[in-house]
Formats: sequence, structure tokens, C-alpha cells
Amino acid sequence: MDYIDYIFIKISLWVFTFYGCSHRDFRMFVNLPVRIDILTLLPELLNGPFAASILHRAQEKGLVEIHMHNIRDYATDKHKNVDDYQYGGGAGMVMSIEPIVTIIEKLQKERTYDEVIYMTPDGTLLEQNTCNDLSLKKNLMILCGHYKGIDERVREHFITREISIGSYVLSGGELAAAVLTDTIVRLLPGVLNDETSALTDSFQDKLLSPPVYTRPPEFRGWKVPKILLSGNFPEIEKWREKKAIERTQERRPDLFDE
Ligand code: ADE
Repeated sequence: MDYIDYIFIKISLWVFTFYGCSHRDFRMFVNLPVRIDILTLLPELLNGPFAASILHRAQEKGLVEIHMHNIRDYATDKHKNVDDYQYGGGAGMVMSIEPIVTIIEKLQKERTYDEVIYMTPDGTLLEQNTCNDLSLKKNLMILCGHYKGIDERVREHFITREISIGSYVLSGGELAAAVLTDTIVRLLPGVLNDETSALTDSFQDKLLSPPVYTRPPEFRGWKVPKILLSGNFPEIEKWREKKAIERTQERRPDLFDE
């Protein structure tokens, strides 16, 4: 996307927001694929998640472009080193600044990025509202960390958002980047067959989803709640809402405090 496209999209978003149109309407109107660039030392770790199911179909339909960049390709020394000892001593290597900055600046020369995201356990915990927000962007760059992390100067000068997918440490940011990408892509219009199904996901209205059932209506004497078989849709809706509230109260009462 060139600069003119970028300005066009920004102005359209203001106009749509001003007139109270939904972000989904805006995304339909703009109708350009979202581009996600992932900077990684292990692109092969990401091939699997992006080659199947919804993420694969979204790429096939041209709704999203996912580009992988191997940071090692941007190392300048003959051994293709991408890490080094940390200043001040201490266990663990640190990802060097130069290869990362080279690839970030190369991509930034080609297009404007809405966000340059660093996946890290000390980032902001990923929540549905962040996924919703990121699903409205056009160009995203996601940097996956390894070892002890990246040189702090990359974070200070290039990173616009730092995201953690949970309070635990993964071996690298790749699986976290796959999770983040999945949460964003499934929200793009046209990705899910039933357009409303992402809107009824758990968390979209700060509630967990109610229980769901399918055939048979009875299995080993375990029955599907009668109301779901009644065909009385207003009552079914009420039942679902009640169950969603009960489930949230039981499992995630913190969601009511937000
Ligand atoms: N890299 C390692 N652990 C991570 C986590 N929990 N979230 C995001 N990136 C990570």
C-alpha cells in the first residue's frame, strides 16, 4: 500500500467514525487485504498454523497477506550471527539490534505500518478489544523475540505495541505471533462463513459464551436442555444470555469489573 492509499484509508476511517458507521462497514468499504509481516528467526515454526483452516482460507481468498521474514537473512557477518552476550554479564543471549533494524527499516520504506508489535511476556496482556482494534488496521509488523529478548533500543525506537499472550514464558515469540494473527484474521469480514459468528464469540460483549449442543438430543441419558429444542427463539436467546452470565460469574468474575 502506498502513501496515497494510506491517507485515503485514514480519511475514510474518520468519515465512517464521524457518521457512526461500524468498523466492519469500513473494512468492507476499503476492501484491501490486510498485510501482516512477521519477523522471526524460525519461519518454519509458523508455516503449519498458516497453512491450514481459517488462516489458510483467508489468504486464499485474498483477505489477508502474511509475509514471513527470516531475521537471519539480514545478519551482516559471515557466520550470520543474530545474537550476542548481554552487556553487564548474566546468563542468556540477546538478539542484536542491527539485523532487526535493517529489516524493519526496509519494510517501512516500502509501506506505512499502523503498528510494529513485539511479542514478549512483559507486554500488555492480549485481550479481545486489542484484537478488535488491530483487525481494523491495514499493515501490521510483528516481531518475534528469542533468547533473553531483543536489544532494548529496538523497543525504544521502533516498537509501537508490546503484547503478551499470557503470564508464562514461551521459547520464542512465534507461537504468540500465530495466536495474535489468528485472533485478528478471524475478525476480518468474509473470513468466517457466518459473518455473525465472530461477533458472538466469548469476550466480544465481556461475557463468556453459553453452552452449545448438537445432535443427538439424548446421549447415554444426557439430554439437551429442552428450551433449545423448543423453536421459541426469543426464549432461547434469554436462556443463552442467562447461561452466559452464570458462566462468566462462575469462571471469570473479573470480566464484570472492567
Ligand atoms: N514470548 C515468550 N513468551 C511470550 C508470551 N507469553 N507472550 C508473548 N510473547 C512471548
